[in-house]
Amino acid sequence: MSETANFKLNDALLGRLLRARSVLVLTGAGMSAESGIPTFRDAQTGIWAKFRPQELATPEAFAADPDRVWRWYEARRKTVREANPHPGHHALVEMAAVVNELHIVTQNVDGLHQRAGSTHVSELHGNILRSKCHLSLRPIGSEWIEESSQSPPRSPYVKGGLARPDVVWFGEALPTAAVEAAIEAAARCDFCFSIGTTSLVQPAASLPLFALEHGAPLVEINPAQTPLSVHAAQCIRGKASEVLVTVISQLKAAKRENK
Ligand code: OAD
Repeated sequence: MSETANFKLNDALLGRLLRARSVLVLTGAGMSAESGIPTFRDAQTGIWAKFRPQELATPEAFAADPDRVWRWYEARRKTVREANPHPGHHALVEMAAVVNELHIVTQNVDGLHQRAGSTHVSELHGNILRSKCHLSLRPIGSEWIEESSQSPPRSPYVKGGLARPDVVWFGEALPTAAVEAAIEAAARCDFCFSIGTTSLVQPAASLPLFALEHGAPLVEINPAQTPLSVHAAQCIRGKASEVLVTVISQLKAAKRENK
């Protein structure tokens, strides 16, 4: 494994990326950090440094105090609504146009990849801007939700049901279709990026290892070391936006030279 601070993908890996049949990009909270959305595990600014997940991100917490949980998510929704994709999100849109096939699997719930224009995106942990009934789990359209309300609106489906954010809480199963698409993309890919994730939460953390087992080289983009770093062909120690902007310009130049 090599570590770089100059944000460049090494030449051998650049060649493999250019020729890849299928590229998997796994993203975590670090991908959205430069859009102003806090990460989870940063010791000072991370969400879980300030709040106890058991009190806010579990079905039990919602059952015990739906107003409190709803208000906390409304504050996070406001941050997400006010955020914009950064140049790294746009670089991934450009990368999809250069390589043969690119699938983004994200743990982020902010929808920033799609807002930037990425099309093949699997959201493993749901989407914070969507809501669903907490009893039937059926989707509740935004027309039912008053922005910045202090209490969850009643579900239109089930007596006693309330709207809750359509995100995966601790102890809950991940959305089956997204997990299946992610596993398929990991098995199929012949190049894998892991960007801005501590690689501690399963099953996301296993996807790059699965890709690796299937022969794909792994490139980690993260200012910090993670448990995945030892498995990477290259670790680029920089922020997602500056690294991805460098990598897309390298890739476009390599494509021009190959023509
Ligand atoms: P974490 O908060 O655990 O990790 C964020 C990672 O991003 C760390 O490794 C940072 O070093 C890195 N990072 C910070 N700024 C960065 C930047 N500008 N560019 C690149 N990397 C940067 O977030 P996740 O690994 O995504 O789950 O957390 C996984 C899951 O744990 C989340 O989806 C959430 C949480 O509990 C649910 O809510 C279900």
